[in-house]
This record gives sequence, structure tokens and C-alpha cells, in this order.
Amino acid sequence: MKIYLNGQFVDSADAAISVFDHGLLYGDGVFEGIRLYGGNVFRLEEHLERLEYSARAIMLDIPHTRAELSEIVCETCRQNGLTDAYIRLVVTRGVGDLGLAPWTCPKPSVFVIASKISLYPQEYYDNGLAIVTVPTRRIGPAALPPTVKSLNYLNNILGKIEARQFGALEAIMLNEQGYVAECTADNIFIVHKGELITPAISHGALKGITRDAVLDIAEELKVPLRDSSMTRYDVWCADECFLTGSGAEVVPVIALDGRRIGDGKPGPITREVLASFRRRVLVEGTRI
Ligand SMILES: Cc1ncc(COP(=O)(O)O)c(C=O)c1O
Repeated sequence: MKIYLNGQFVDSADAAISVFDHGLLYGDGVFEGIRLYGGNVFRLEEHLERLEYSARAIMLDIPHTRAELSEIVCETCRQNGLTDAYIRLVVTRGVGDLGLAPWTCPKPSVFVIASKISLYPQEYYDNGLAIVTVPTRRIGPAALPPTVKSLNYLNNILGKIEARQFGALEAIMLNEQGYVAECTADNIFIVHKGELITPAISHGALKGITRDAVLDIAEELKVPLRDSSMTRYDVWCADECFLTGSGAEVVPVIALDGRRIGDGKPGPITREVLASFRRRVLVEGTRI
């Protein structure tokens, strides 16, 4: 496998980052998880825009233009002969000294990994996931705004560990006020009385690229849509529920905290959204 690392393509065995890189020492950096479908990079511009915003938020200067980054992402896919892949684009603060100070890091590190992805097994798309709510709260905007897709994922990792302790693959994380924010690596939607509802970004969610795609799909399907506050009660009493993410795509949820959602099967709107998403990814995107 060829990895793009700071201007060169190197074998994965040689793709090494310094132990003094602040991405490693402090989680000081930003990243994107992107999908390649049939030779098209899905919503690449949107991913690069989000990366730029994340970098601006942490005062990190990305040493490339958007056009250059776009080419680097596409070339990494070409170098590996891939037409379908999961792409990880990372920009760290770079190598510095052992203190926190980011100004000791003169040059950000940039790397891109394009690899096959292990998705949820097909049975979860057919039958749905049972998820739980975990005790760990999503970090609030006064600490690290959850809209920043930073390398600092410990909060979500604690949520993921707790999900596993409860025997679930994904979990709802609440915000500090107790409202549903999102899942550990996915956004969440419910369907209630024909309306599609998702927590507002201001409630502590990442502005997911897949979430945005589903907002467009709702318009196409003429399903009324609302982004608002959401409690666990709203999810327990929903007719349908699904999660969205670049890795997960659109995955149905059929239970939360031991309560069956709807009739305990993936619902009709969820199925329509998933089908529309699968059609879109084949035609939307940047040709590599
Ligand atoms: C915390 C979190 N929320 C939501 C998402 C979904 O975002 P996207 O659809 O852009 O992959 C991710 C994806 O990585 C995530 O890490």
C-alpha cells in the first residue's frame, strides 16, 4: 500500500511519523474520513472545506491549497489502484519539542491513507442495529467545539468502550444539557409521524457530510425535515431511527437502551433514504 506522506508516496512500512509530532503527543491536528465509490470521491469539496474550517479553528495553517489537497487525495487512490475505498486525510501540527506550545512546530505533517474499509456487515443494513446511550457526554462547545474534526477523539473513544461494555456497536452520546448530540462516530436521525428529525448542530454534533447528503435526500423524497433538540424519549418513541457517517453510510437502528424502536425493523423511510444514498454516491463526486 502506498501512503502519501509530506510530499512523497511511500510504502506503508516506511510511512513513519516522528515521536515528536504533536499530532501524536497531544492529538494536535485535524482530519477527514472520506469515501471513494466507483472511482468518484464522494463530496470531496465539502470534506476539504470542513478540514479547512477545522484547521482555522485550531489555528493550524494547512500547507496546501484546496486544489492541491484534492489532487493529493485523488493521486493516493490512483497510486493504490483503488476504485472503492475509505480515505483518511490527516494534517497534524508537525514535529516540535516536548512542550504543548504549537509554535515550536514549524511544519505541519500531511498524510493520506486510502484503503479498503470493513463496513458494518450487511445484516445490520438488512436488520438494523441495537444501540445504547453511554454515560460519557459529548464535549461541549465551550471546551472543544464538536464541529472541529480534530485528532482529539478520546471523548468518543470512551463512548465506544462503554458501548461495547453494553454489547452495542454504536452509542448515543448526550450533550452536557442531556440532549442527544450524536453517536461516537455517526450522526443520528429519527422519523416521527412522517417527519425526519436530527439534532441541531448546536446541540453538539459534527456537521456530517453524510448528514448533509441525507438533508438533500429528504428534500428529494419530499419528507418534511426538522433539526432541533432531541431527547432519549424522542428516540425511544420514534417510528424509525438511523445513523449516518462516511464509514457507516446510512444504517438502520431498531432499538435504543433495550426499547424497541417502531416495529423493531428498519422502517420504510430509512430504506428509501439508504437506497437514494447508494444511488447518489455512484454519480456524485470528484472523478479520480
Ligand atoms: C463524531 C462524529 N460524528 C459524525 C460523523 C459522521 O460524519 P461524516 O458523515 O462526515 O462522516 C463522524 C464521522 O467521522 C464523527 O466522527
